[in-house]
Parts: sequence; structure tokens; C-alpha cells
Amino acid sequence: MNCIDLTGRTAIITGGASGIGLATARQMLKSGARVELWDRDPARLEAATRELGASSDVTVQTVNVADVAAVQAAADMSLQRLGAVDILVNNAGVTPGMRVVTEVALEDWRENISVNLDAVFFTSRAFVPGMVARGWGRIVNVSSLAAKEGNPFQSAYSAAKAGVIAFTKSLAKEVGTSGVLVNAVAPALFDTPLVAWARKENPQAMQIALEKIPLRRIGRPEEAAAMITWIASDQCSFTTGFTFELNGGRA
Ligand SMILES: NC(=O)c1ccc[n+]([C@@H]2O[C@H](COP(=O)([O-])OP(=O)(O)OC[C@H]3O[C@@H](n4cnc5c(N)ncnc54)[C@H](O)[C@@H]3O)[C@@H](O)[C@H]2O)c1
Repeated sequence: MNCIDLTGRTAIITGGASGIGLATARQMLKSGARVELWDRDPARLEAATRELGASSDVTVQTVNVADVAAVQAAADMSLQRLGAVDILVNNAGVTPGMRVVTEVALEDWRENISVNLDAVFFTSRAFVPGMVARGWGRIVNVSSLAAKEGNPFQSAYSAAKAGVIAFTKSLAKEVGTSGVLVNAVAPALFDTPLVAWARKENPQAMQIALEKIPLRRIGRPEEAAAMITWIASDQCSFTTGFTFELNGGRA
């Protein structure tokens, strides 16, 4: 059987208590990794731990990834617990309500930029030095198709996710010779709580988005998890600074 082997690897997955992050945790555990879920929602983390099953291979931390001091403290704790962190999946994200640019509140703009973009910088800064020192690391940043297309009424989200793609390229080049590969994925529509919320808020926009996907369905979280897990493995060895598409043929 051809399977992805992460035996002996340790992984931090931000936003790991739900949707794509939780599916990635499941997949990485199956592949032999130890995973630590970071999420700001303790109730979701508790449910995720129950679902993944009590095991020393799963640990959690309640952390707001937009808070630089909290990220540094959580990173110190992770390094103490796990010894080293080989894989970082920057997946935590929020989507704003749909608003024209002129009606976007400053605090909503800032929340989007800080959770969706600043956090990727904070966690990378915390874990890259250890990866470089050990000569192996994989960072997978979860961007969005919105980064490439610029979704109307989601300017802050689109701008933050586009920033993630550029950041991915910059960091990949900086650590190019170190054994650390930095890539991103750009999902379109996936069946997660985040999208369930957006569907309720604007069902018409969701229907239009669905019609643009040649496969005429939304993605399953395990489909994103499979790609993220492969990118985080030894099998992905000659690709860095790249953004992999996950969109049912839309882009
Ligand atoms: N679902 C989609 O269709 C889709 C499309 C494109 C991109 N994405 C991206 O994929 C990623 C995962 O999305 P999902 O659909 O699985 O969403 P989700 O809402 O199911 O999960 C996101 C998780 O992130 C956590 N989170 C949010 N803000 C946080 C913070 N400040 N600190 C720590 N944790 C925080 C939430 O508590 C939640 O558990 C996001 O970055 C999202 O932007 C999703």
C-alpha cells in the first residue's frame, strides 16, 4: 500500500479543533505523527480530543494565534512537551461577514488581518529556528482561492490570504537550503462549520460559488487533509514556495 509515512514526526496544527484542521490531525495521526492542536475554542478542543481518542499522540493548547505573546508561550510549551516541532500547519482562520469596503469596520479589518495573516508570521517565527537547526521542517499555510480571485465583499479576508501566499514564497526562499520547505494550499469551498455559517449568511453567493466548480460539489475536509499531509511529508521534497490548488477544478 502506498501511504504517507510521518512516523516520528511532530506536528502543530492551528485551528486544529474543527473542519480542515481536525481532518488534518486525523490524517497525520493515521500516518504516524504526534499532533498538537492549537485552537482558541476550548469546547471544540475538548470535543476534538474525545473524537480523536485519548492517546499520548494527541495534545492540545487553547491559544489565540493572533496574540503574539500567547503564541510564544504556547510554542515554548509545545517544544517542552514534544521535544521538537517538525511540521507546522497554519490553518486557523476566520471569515468576516460580507461587507462592501466602505462599510468594513476597522476592528473587523484588523481581526481578519491578525488571525489570517499576522498569526502565520508569529508561529513561523517561533518554530522555524528549531526546524532549521535540525535540518528538516515542513510548513503548510492554509490560504484560500479568495487570495487569488479577490472575493467581492471579503476584502480583508482576501487581502490577508493573499499575504499568506506572498509570505510563503518569501520564507521558502529564505530557508531554501536548510531542509525546511514552506508551501501553501488554496482551498475553494469545503464542507466545514466555517462554510455552514457563510451558507446561512448568504445562500445565494454560496450557490454561485458552487456553480463555478466543475466537479459541482464542495470539498470534503479529508480531501484537504490528504494534500496537506502529503505536503508535510518526505514525499514532498522538491517543491517549496508553492500554493497548491484545492478547488474541484475551479481555478
Ligand atoms: N472551508 C472552506 O471552504 C475554506 C475555503 C478557503 C480557505 N479556508 C481556510 O481553511 C482554514 C480552516 O477553515 P475551516 O473551514 O476548517 O474552518 P473552521 O471554522 O471549521 O475551523 C477553523 C478553526 O480555527 C479556530 N480559530 C479561529 N480563530 C482562531 C484564533 N484566533 N486562534 C486560534 N484558533 C482560531 C476556530 O476556533 C476553528 O476551530 C481557514 O484558514 C480558512 O480560511 C477554508
